[in-house]
Amino acid sequence: MKRIVLTGAAGRLGSYLREPLSKMADELVSTDIFDDIGKLYDGERYMKGDLASVDDMMAVLEGADMVVHFGAIPDEAPFEELLGPNFIGAYNIWEAAHRHGVKRVVYASSIHSVGMYRKNEFIDTKVAHRPDTFYGLSKCFAEDLGSMYWEKRGLESVHLRILSCAQVNNARALGSWLSYDDLIQLVTRCIETPIVGFSIIYGVSNNDRAPVDNAQSSFLGYRPKDNAEQFAEEVLANEPPMDPQDIGHMCQGGPFASVELGKSGAAGLNIIDDKKTT
Ligand SMILES: NC(=O)c1ccc[n+]([C@@H]2O[C@H](COP(=O)([O-])OP(=O)(O)OC[C@H]3O[C@@H](n4cnc5c(N)ncnc54)[C@H](O)[C@@H]3O)[C@@H](O)[C@H]2O)c1
Repeated sequence: MKRIVLTGAAGRLGSYLREPLSKMADELVSTDIFDDIGKLYDGERYMKGDLASVDDMMAVLEGADMVVHFGAIPDEAPFEELLGPNFIGAYNIWEAAHRHGVKRVVYASSIHSVGMYRKNEFIDTKVAHRPDTFYGLSKCFAEDLGSMYWEKRGLESVHLRILSCAQVNNARALGSWLSYDDLIQLVTRCIETPIVGFSIIYGVSNNDRAPVDNAQSSFLGYRPKDNAEQFAEEVLANEPPMDPQDIGHMCQGGPFASVELGKSGAAGLNIIDDKKTT
C-alpha cells in the first residue's frame, strides 16, 4: 500500500491510530483542522484541512489508496454546528475519494446511529437506523452515503459503529468499551481484508456484557482481546443509584438517548482525555 490518509489525526482516537497506520503504508498522510500536530512518526506527513471544504479534501486525498475517516465533532450539538464537519465533511470525503479513485473508506461511525434500541434487544449489524441525536443522524447519513457510493460507484467502505472507546469508569462502559488495542486491531482488519464491499461492524471489545452482535461481520476476522469485566467490581461499587425510568440506562446510546436534541451527550460520560503523545 502506497498511501493511507487519516482524518481526525489530532483527536484522541487518531492519536492511537497514527503510529500503527504509519507502518501499514509507504506514507501516512495525517490531517486535521489545526496548523500542526507536533512530532510526526516515520513515514507520516501532516496536512491541515477543513473537512467542510471539498477543495481541502481533494488536496488531502490525492494519491491515497485508502482513507481512515475519524475527523468529526464527536458529540451531540446543534444541527448547524454538525452540518459542516459531520454531514458535509462525510460527503466531501466520499466524493474526493471517488474522484481520486481511492479503493476504500474506513469510517468511524457510532452506536448513536442506532442509539434508541434497547440493550436487551441484542441488535445485529442489519437493524434499521434509529439515531438518538443529530450526531447519530450524521453517522446514519455517512453510512447511507457509503452504501450509495458502493452500489453506484464501486467505492468500498467499512463503518465501525464504535460504542465507547475511552477508559471504563461507568456501568454502561462495562458493555460498551472498545480498548485502544482492539480499536487498532479493528482498523487493521478493515484495511487488510481483501474485499469488504459495504460493511458495518460494531466497535466493541470482547466484553461479557457487550449488547451487540457482530456475527454478520465475522468475515473481517476481528477478534477482540480485551474484556471490561476486569473493571466491573470497582465500577459498580462507585456507581450512584440508577433510575430505571431513565431511558439512558436501557438504550444503546446511554445519555445520548435521554439528552435533549442539540445538548451534549458526552458531558454525561466523564470521558478522560488520555490522548497518546508522540
Ligand atoms: N471516542 C469514542 O468513544 C467514539 C465513539 C463513537 C464514534 N466515535 C467517532 O470516532 C471519531 C474520533 O473520535 P474522538 O473521540 O477521537 O474525537 P476527537 O474530538 O478527539 O477527534 C476528532 C477530530 O476531528 C477533528 N475535526 C473536527 N472538525 C473538523 C473539521 N471541520 N475539519 C477537520 N478536522 C476536524 C477535530 O479537530 C479532532 O481532532 C469521531 O468521528 C467520533 O464521532 C468516537
